[in-house]
Amino acid sequence: MNHFELRDGELWCEGVRLSEIAEQAGTPVYVYSSATLRRHLGVFRDAVSAYPDRLGTPLIAYALKANSNLSVLQTLAEAGSGADTVSEGEIRRALKAGVPAGRIVFSGVGKSDREMAFALDAGVFQINVESEPELERLARVAREKGVTAPFAIRVNPGVGAGGHAKITTGGITDKFGVTAEEAMRLYAEASRTAGLKPQGLACHIGSQISDLTPLRRAFTILRGLVEALRADGLEVTTLDLGGGLGVPYFNQPDPPGPEDFAAMAAEVAGGLDVQYVFEPGRMIVANAGVLLSRVIHIHRRPDGGRRFLVLDAAMNDLMRPALYDAFHDLRPVKPRTDGERETYDVVGPVCETGDTFTRERDLPRFEPGDLVAFMSAGAYGAVMGSEYNTRPLAPEVLVRDDRWAVVRSRPTYEEMFAAEPKAPWL
Ligand code: LLP
Repeated sequence: MNHFELRDGELWCEGVRLSEIAEQAGTPVYVYSSATLRRHLGVFRDAVSAYPDRLGTPLIAYALKANSNLSVLQTLAEAGSGADTVSEGEIRRALKAGVPAGRIVFSGVGKSDREMAFALDAGVFQINVESEPELERLARVAREKGVTAPFAIRVNPGVGAGGHAKITTGGITDKFGVTAEEAMRLYAEASRTAGLKPQGLACHIGSQISDLTPLRRAFTILRGLVEALRADGLEVTTLDLGGGLGVPYFNQPDPPGPEDFAAMAAEVAGGLDVQYVFEPGRMIVANAGVLLSRVIHIHRRPDGGRRFLVLDAAMNDLMRPALYDAFHDLRPVKPRTDGERETYDVVGPVCETGDTFTRERDLPRFEPGDLVAFMSAGAYGAVMGSEYNTRPLAPEVLVRDDRWAVVRSRPTYEEMFAAEPKAPWL
């Protein structure tokens, strides 16, 4: 459920007309609903908190990579969210938005020494280590600082899942994590290594997962590992079960709900007397955001050929269709009442064919100047934007009730060029 609704013949976000935002902030523009953000965090928290005897009080470490806008983060932090981060920049964002360091997890396959040092200084809850060389470096960085690094080992269970090959992370050919055997060995070695405090295991097998079966297999493997480590006399106090739960996109299988996910997690991996951690990203923010764009014109090939709906948003604003063949629902902000429909190829102004949002989609008829909303664009939308073709980054707007604010401004061309000082010999 989200808070983008049709009322009085047009789309609203909570108590604000999307057309008002488009007129004042310009297009393309991302718009987020505070109520949907809070609702989705609440739904997930309620689901995983429904098994206190099995999952205790889990730490929900929202995966910032999905949408790291500071005001979005602060909205979630005020609602009690922790943070899963993958760079110094993301840790800085989480801290700035008010997430306590003790609720921050630091993940990622290639943390630099500097980033590890930053995370240790900040006092994050846990560093999820993904390989042996990384663990060796973490030990060295911690020793140089005279501290002990609390870490979990990310296990690659050899079970990949997700909406596209490029967002599957748990397969053995994927770069993430170590095998179960390596995890056992590294954990034991680390327990005898100065500077390291092994506290648990982690996994994350993919994103936009629409089936619980692979998650069940992965969690079963993790559970077995926790039990095996304990049988070897090692202490395990945390278990991070990752994120990955899908959301309903246009023309995609409906994903399982958070309740079914939580019931499965409790059944398969619950009751281990650990601090459970979850890292949801997409399911918290995807349906809390839309990308608003305006139709520039409609270009029609003669003799019944293709009809191109040319928008002012492009692949640089929303990469997902170009990168993952993703489909976003497209809705008119002010639907016409005549019920007429057309078949369009929906494209942006960027100069490559990859800048195609969808082909031959049956849609309500549009005219130049009409506003279009890309639905479910709150996750992996603005964060993946670029200035390709020297197009300014789309601004971001946050709505709360009947108020709205620009929470990331569209850069001016002067601001864009200021980051490119002229070479002294020119
Ligand atoms: N934890 C880790 C370690 C991750 O790598 C990810 C996402 C998450 C949590 C959050 O997963 P989620 O709940 O959002 O599925 N840009 C792609 C998605 C990439 C996901 C990468 N990892 C897209 O637009 O579909």
